[in-house]
Amino acid sequence: MTIKVFTVFGVRPEAVKMAPVIAELSRRPEFAVVTCVTGQHRQMLDQVLKLFHIQPRYDLNIMRDRQDLPATFSRALTGLDDIFRADRPDIVLVHGDTLTTFAGSFAAFLNQVPVGHVEAGLRTHNKYLPFPEEMNRKLTGSLADVHFAPTNACRANLLREGVQEESIYVTGNTVIDALRTTVSEAYEFHNPILREMSFTGRVLVVEVHRRENWGEPMRQMSLAITDILGKFPDCRVIFPVHLNPVVRDVVYPLLSGQDRITLLDPLDTDDFHNLMARSHLVLTDSGGLQEEAPSLGVPVLVMRNNTERPEAVETGTVKLVGTEREGIVAVAIELLANKTSYQAMAKAVNPYGDGKASVRVAEGLLHNFGMTTIRPEEWKY
Ligand code: UD1
Repeated sequence: MTIKVFTVFGVRPEAVKMAPVIAELSRRPEFAVVTCVTGQHRQMLDQVLKLFHIQPRYDLNIMRDRQDLPATFSRALTGLDDIFRADRPDIVLVHGDTLTTFAGSFAAFLNQVPVGHVEAGLRTHNKYLPFPEEMNRKLTGSLADVHFAPTNACRANLLREGVQEESIYVTGNTVIDALRTTVSEAYEFHNPILREMSFTGRVLVVEVHRRENWGEPMRQMSLAITDILGKFPDCRVIFPVHLNPVVRDVVYPLLSGQDRITLLDPLDTDDFHNLMARSHLVLTDSGGLQEEAPSLGVPVLVMRNNTERPEAVETGTVKLVGTEREGIVAVAIELLANKTSYQAMAKAVNPYGDGKASVRVAEGLLHNFGMTTIRPEEWKY
């Protein structure tokens, strides 16, 4: 028997995190893998598809400029429903918490096709933070038949919601698998500015995009960055700005043309991973960077008030600093001025995986489909 697995994704980080799963499943004769992208992101997705040599069989190309949530969701839902009707999967694998994730799981449910959720069980327990991601992942969790939880804390969240224990596999996060293929010491940047850079001073990498931070919080973050640079002349900021015009409208007027701030278009994923590996500190509201940077030994200041990823806060490589200018600046100053505080954070403790998450996803699927009686050995954190 061959299991016909449809992988469904649409935005850049989902693509990065699904790429190792696609590679692992494609290696195994038990699976026939069909890749299906919504194209919720266009340019940012295409770059990742190219990097990992993924050729989607289906591409819905749903992105519009300044797309709103209901229209994005309905385009993804109807498009995926058409596909699943015409070309029935044995299981649909979705990832994480985007509109594509929920649309993919809901379309599968409407066609009575089983759903596997990769990166399952992350929760802040606050419906609106992050918005709409918390509900996307929760609703996907209710529809899923198989849950690939990255950590034991995620498993515990699912158990509290009544998910059957046998359907949960703790795998680690597949982003660690991806990082192992992209980061290397001899790496040559594609971006011409990064290629010319010497990385002698301290480089701070900034990335923000979250919907709940649009407007005033993002303005506060931008001002915090200028304050921090004002205090540390040996520091410089590299800020690849998300293509969302709502983000660019805030960031560019405040930060462009300033000394020691380089604003770039979004970087290729391999450039971004290698930039992070060479940086001193990451300031972000992103979810994925909270997983990537700790495994590179780079401290992260998370400019949010809560996180669905408490593991690296516990191990000490991530700090939550809120979205207010003063709060962000105070913590950054302490870290940049005090070597002991910095060293305490900059240890490469990695609660998110050992690079074998995709193998566990593949083995978990085989187990779930009754093709082996052996459960995969689980990730321990
Ligand atoms: C989405 C996800 C978020 C994830 C993020 C990663 C939802 C609700 N949110 O947010 O969870 O962390 O992706 O980036 O699913 N754009 C382009 N080209 C691109 C990508 C985006 O022009 O390649 C612009 C478009 O104008 C688009 C806008 O960015 O309308 C916003 O994209 P959207 O998918 O709505 O939301 P994100 O903020 O990227």
